[in-house]
Amino acid sequence: MRDDEVTYGSYLALDELLQLQRTRSGHPDELLFIIVHQASELWFREILHELDLLIDALTAHEPTFALFRMGRLNALMRIVSAQLSALDTLPPQHFAEFRGHLGTSSGSQSVQFRAIEATSGLREPHFMQVLQEHGPVPDVVQRALSRPPLQDLFLELLRAQHIELEALYTGAQPTTEFFLAEALLEYEQQFAEWRFKHVQLVERILGPLTGGTGGTLGAKYLSRTIDQRFFPTLWAVRAKFYGSA
Ligand code: HEM
Repeated sequence: MRDDEVTYGSYLALDELLQLQRTRSGHPDELLFIIVHQASELWFREILHELDLLIDALTAHEPTFALFRMGRLNALMRIVSAQLSALDTLPPQHFAEFRGHLGTSSGSQSVQFRAIEATSGLREPHFMQVLQEHGPVPDVVQRALSRPPLQDLFLELLRAQHIELEALYTGAQPTTEFFLAEALLEYEQQFAEWRFKHVQLVERILGPLTGGTGGTLGAKYLSRTIDQRFFPTLWAVRAKFYGSA
């Protein structure tokens, strides 16, 4: 197709896109359930793309570009969290009417979500165990696991510039590296906020004790994930001002 033949619909592949919301139950609320999940997966795709560019900037020791990427990543995380609120309007009795049609499908099978976690830095045994529960580790997650975690890349960027992490928090003038450390922390906070909003949503719809379609303890399992950290060193450094680091 020539550029001058491109239209809004063809450029965005809307015919295909709008065919993809295939409800199974006929329940009027199922469309919202599908759209919030699909929209989240689209944003996850963009987040993974931005994480790639962030890794390039960190690896090239370019703190200004990395900061630019972090600004966008944090904007995207805010959007992904905010759209969960749409499902707060799904009452439990409505969800119960179509939940049976979901089979064993569960958000815990989201490959892109696991790739975001792995890229960001989750590598501990619990994470690996959850990952392997659904069969072989998918390529996109393998690729994420083969790269250094974001925190290592950031600390390496500091080392290359002969900057001590502690010094970021003692200088009279905040530096680009200081803002970058703070932006990474904000990313982690946004992520935890998504987890918190999601666990509240789950509790609101399923109650605190109902198990998930993915076979976990539901809200109980999810609330345990809120304490996971991508950047433990960046959190720990703050304690030095209180004599406990
Ligand atoms: C009616 C709304 C929702 C309910 C009732 C719900 C329920 C659950 C439950 C019970 C789990 C635990 C795993 C399991 O046993 O199934 C889970 C995990 C998960 N859900 Fe949802 N969810 C909802 C909406 C969403 C949305 C909109 C997304 C966006 C993609 C999402 C993404 C995820 C992810 C990524 C996990 C894995 C989290 C982790 O292991 O840390 N969920 N969900």
